[in-house]
Amino acid sequence: MAKYKIAVLPGDGVGVEVTEAAMIVLKKLGLDAEYIYGDIGWEFWRKEGEPLPQRTIELLKSTDCCLFGAITSKPKDEALEELAPELADKGLVYRSPIVRLRQHFDLHTNLRPCKAYEGNPLVYKEGIDLVVFRENTEGLYGGVEWHPIPENVRAAVDSHPAAAKFADCPNEDMAVSTRIFTRKGCQRILRSAFEFAKKHGRKSVTVVEKPNVLRETSGLMVREARKMAKEYPGIKLWEANIDAMCMWLLKNPFDYDVLVSSNMFGDIISDLCAQLVGGLGFAASANIGDSFAVFEPTHGSAPKYAGMYKVNPMAMLLTVKLMLGWLGEKDMASKLDAAIAAVIAEGKVRTYDLGGTNTTLEVAQAVAERL
Ligand code: IPM
Ligand code: MG
Repeated sequence: MAKYKIAVLPGDGVGVEVTEAAMIVLKKLGLDAEYIYGDIGWEFWRKEGEPLPQRTIELLKSTDCCLFGAITSKPKDEALEELAPELADKGLVYRSPIVRLRQHFDLHTNLRPCKAYEGNPLVYKEGIDLVVFRENTEGLYGGVEWHPIPENVRAAVDSHPAAAKFADCPNEDMAVSTRIFTRKGCQRILRSAFEFAKKHGRKSVTVVEKPNVLRETSGLMVREARKMAKEYPGIKLWEANIDAMCMWLLKNPFDYDVLVSSNMFGDIISDLCAQLVGGLGFAASANIGDSFAVFEPTHGSAPKYAGMYKVNPMAMLLTVKLMLGWLGEKDMASKLDAAIAAVIAEGKVRTYDLGGTNTTLEVAQAVAERL
């Protein structure tokens, strides 16, 4: 029996191609794992009305972790139009499978390292090395929302003094998406960020919120951050508002180190940080829970490049590195990192985003040869 059982969900579009790239490298590394492929994504939405079939959830439950490619998400109405005709009137609603996986397996910590590799012509400034911790199950992604809004929710809204301005608005003309934070949710993501900072000798943790306006939710996060910071005397706690942070990251990226934020703000700031280090082609992420994790490149399925083997697999290869680290295969993780760094520094084998003409798989092979 292999040491690890890993679920592999290539998903849609270029997800399939970057997953192939990942496999080239994993094979070369000789990770002692059994890989079990599963169904997820747009194809299963269209055919079955379910982009995340129950059989896939069962598969994940039987594995140590999951490597995920990418999936296509579309707004509600567009998704409905693409359903198989026999499913059209069943009242099915498309919900992002990756968001559901994060919820279902309580993968509370989304870890998104953004490091500028030497020789990458796309980096904003050399030496940038940021790590984003994004709360992954609550906030605006919690899924508690309504349109039109039901009477009991309406009553709760009307009972709030600030809601007087909505008094004349009919329920069917009102949409509500909640932003629920729990103390536990805040503490879990803050703990992940501080522990990471401590383990890796990082100097500061910046909590990125907006407590001057979102007094209750962002306020809770910041208050918990201040409390927790006392347990980490060697690490500075900085506080920044999400809007100002977007500006400061462009102005002074070297002032920051570990960033921690709630779900939506973390989503936004992690795209910004990704661009600082060369774009989504270099952005890896890990969705980590207490005993299970799903590893995915931050990019999407890029439908316009699907089937062309053009996209940069580095984000996926860096994601594999995160997976190896989480599994405890530290040596393999650092070997892979060194091989990735070498291929980038050498600059000979490059995908189109770096001005090259190499394919997704050629880049993966170049990394594999370096191992
Ligand atoms: C991400 C993506 C997802 C998100 C989408 C695809 C639902 O943007 O992982 O950052 O919003 O979390
Ligand atoms: Mg995003």
